[in-house]
Amino acid sequence: MPNQYQEAIENSNIVSKTDIDGIITFVNDEFCNIFGYEKEELMGKNHNIIRHPDVPSSNFEELWDIIKRQKKPYKSTVKNLTKDKKTVYLNTTITPILNENNEIKEFIAIRYDVTKEVELKKNLEQKDKELKALNETLEQRVIEQTKQLQELNSTLEQRVLEEIKKNEEKQKILFWQSRMASLGQMLANIAHQWRQPLTELNLTMFNINKASRKCCNNEKVLEYYEEGKFIIKNMSKTIDDFTNFFAPNKPSEPFFLNDSINESLEILKKLILRENITIRTSFEKLKVIGISNELSQVLINLIQNANDAFNQHKITNKKIIIKTYKTEDDFAVIELKDNALGIPLEYIDKIFEPYFTTKHSSSGTGLGLFMSRLIIEKSLNGNIDVRNYDEGSIFTIKIPIWKKS
Ligand SMILES: Nc1ncnc2c1ncn2[C@@H]1O[C@H](COP(=O)(O)OP(=O)(O)OP(=O)(O)O)[C@@H](O)[C@H]1O
Ligand SMILES: [Mg+2]
Repeated sequence: MPNQYQEAIENSNIVSKTDIDGIITFVNDEFCNIFGYEKEELMGKNHNIIRHPDVPSSNFEELWDIIKRQKKPYKSTVKNLTKDKKTVYLNTTITPILNENNEIKEFIAIRYDVTKEVELKKNLEQKDKELKALNETLEQRVIEQTKQLQELNSTLEQRVLEEIKKNEEKQKILFWQSRMASLGQMLANIAHQWRQPLTELNLTMFNINKASRKCCNNEKVLEYYEEGKFIIKNMSKTIDDFTNFFAPNKPSEPFFLNDSINESLEILKKLILRENITIRTSFEKLKVIGISNELSQVLINLIQNANDAFNQHKITNKKIIIKTYKTEDDFAVIELKDNALGIPLEYIDKIFEPYFTTKHSSSGTGLGLFMSRLIIEKSLNGNIDVRNYDEGSIFTIKIPIWKKS
């Protein structure tokens, strides 16, 4: 090779030569610069001094096969190690130099540094990988978040519905309580205004009696007088009873079930007589906690409903059986059984819903059983249920038995 060419190559490339066994016979300055060795350190050493431990030995087998057996140039980007253990990447061409007999005389290796490019490429690949991974996790996260949001959305809807329902029930209780309170107020007013005339009437009758005795001593007059007095006394008592019954804000306290049931029978006494209903009762002495009048109100609703059903079906031997007993798990049970032919199965599940009625709007609002259920569940902490039997229906109320703590 003419000297000038050699110089040109040596100036721009990393050049080394080895003998046929790979022993270094020449290195240029660029070679020393990049690998950090002095020329003297390299001369006579095996070329594998710059071998990188990462490079598999199969690569060298291939290299030797090409340059030694096939006697062809070998081209590759090779990972090498410098003296101070730094990694460099070199684009390498190793060419066997042959003599006239086509035998290998030596090898010349021309290299140039591509470390920066390789590292840049590796960096890019790494970034690409990270980006892909990020993309994947991002997708995954979007899916998860969407799922969570959807779940939240559906439970939110459910929760809103539940809250609305609770609110509606609260409103109904409030409405009912205020209705009760105003009824009580009204009755108190009536009672107040009735008492005076009743006293006057009593006095007038006393005078009639007195007068009649003076003139004719009529036995009949006396009899009427006594009867009149009895009626007036009863009217007065009824008003007292009602006023007491509807008094608002009664405290919750332990009471006997039978007292509460008897109270409702007392209030409905007239109706029971008029409608000719036979009532049979069998009570165990059981105490629960709550407001006795509210439970009476429930019993009144149930009896009135039975009476409506008796009339609707023109039942002649009207019977209502009311039983109370205790369960093994400490519940007090009230069973109210009528023989009014029962509740049609197509709406037996709906009768406790607000405004459900099969009656004409003038005779039923459909709130009776709804309110009854509210009282039993919210005020007495129990439950109410209904089932049919062959002659009618049976309403069952279950309330926890009160225990002295
Ligand atoms: N003992 C019963 N036998 C047959 N049907 C009954 C009986 N009790 C209730 N029902 C049915 O259940 C419906 C709902 O009763 P609920 O007491 O809630 O309302 P209502 O009696 O119609 O009206 P109100 O608000 O005046 O009480 C009744 O309309 C009736 O069809
Ligand atoms: Mg009713």
